Amino acid sequence: MSQNLRRTLIVAAAVIAGVFVAALMTSIFGPEPEFEIDESPPESAAPQIYDDIIHAPAGLGTLRTELRDIHGDPIGVACSTCHLSGNLGDPPAKSADELSEFHVDMDFDHGDLACSSCHAEDNRNQLKLADGTQIDYEDSMELCAQCHSSTYRSYKHGAHGGMAGHWDDSAGPRERNHCLSCHYAHEPAFPDVMPAPPPRDRYFEVPTDQ
Ligand code: HEC
Ligand code: HEC
Ligand code: HEC
Ligand code: HEC
Repeated sequence: MSQNLRRTLIVAAAVIAGVFVAALMTSIFGPEPEFEIDESPPESAAPQIYDDIIHAPAGLGTLRTELRDIHGDPIGVACSTCHLSGNLGDPPAKSADELSEFHVDMDFDHGDLACSSCHAEDNRNQLKLADGTQIDYEDSMELCAQCHSSTYRSYKHGAHGGMAGHWDDSAGPRERNHCLSCHYAHEPAFPDVMPAPPPRDRYFEVPTDQ
């Protein structure tokens, strides 16, 4: 190796080492970068979600009379008007066939249930859940849900019971029916309805027997 070449190599190595050391010093002692990284989570733009509006039938959980209020709804009498602390029959009726003095015209066809499967025994103004918790009549869907969980699941996601109002619940509330808008608690079978006539076909003759 010629002496010239060796000198050139040494100079080149010194220059490279110098640049490296300079870069290292700048990165350690150099000025802070001018921008700051914002590490706080982005402000959430979560929209307001409206609660469903559930249309419960009027006068739920009262003994309806023939009298009507200004909206045309029947005026009801609270159960506790008579049932001060619970049962009145002697012995207390467990099923509709055992009623002989009152509520006698009541129709009942809902499985094999006793009155107290649903009505709290010591407070007839309330319903009761399977664990004994007492609930208001307005919350009676909770009671239905305990025994009809799969139908209730369908109801929750909109496949049972109908839905109106806003589908997008960030734009406005959904409007739902109450189980008791369609099913009477004591006789819940939905009445049979006449099927609508078949649609008219624009191209083929409508069969004459329809
Ligand atoms: C006007 C008075 C009156 C009102 C209001 C009334 N009940 Fe009764 N209820 C009676 C009488 C009287 C009996 C006993 C009937 C019998 O044994 O034949 C009875 C019986 C019952 C029974 C059977 C158990 C028992 O006590 O023998 C249940 C359950 C019941 N009522 C629930 C209710 C509920 C729920 C309401 C409110 C939605 C209500 N009642 C409102 C008078 C009333
Ligand atoms: C499946 C649960 C369930 C059973 C079982 C049940 N009820 Fe009810 N009952 C309800 C619910 C819910 C309401 C409120 C419905 C309404 O007011 O439209 C109600 C309403 C009533 C009412 C007031 C409204 C009406 O329809 O007259 C009376 C009285 C009553 N129940 C008595 C009884 C008696 C007596 C028995 C037993 C023979 C009984 N219930 C069995 C759930 C039940
Ligand atoms: C303690 C359990 C229980 C509760 C609470 C209950 N159900 Fe039922 N339900 C039954 C049983 C049992 C049947 C009968 C099933 C059968 O015959 O196959 C039934 C049947 C029904 C049916 C079908 C009726 C038919 O003949 O097609 C409907 C609808 C219904 N219930 C609605 C309700 C509603 C609405 C509520 C709330 C007010 C409710 N149920 C609360 C136990 C319950
Ligand atoms: C808009 C009216 C409507 C509402 C609200 C509604 N149902 Fe129904 N339900 C029906 C109709 C219609 C049927 C089908 C009746 C048939 O096939 O004969 C039915 C059938 C049922 C049955 C029989 C079994 C089945 O799944 O087909 C059960 C149990 C029942 N509903 C429970 C409920 C409960 C619990 C709620 C509340 C969470 C509810 N329904 C709300 C109209 C309604």
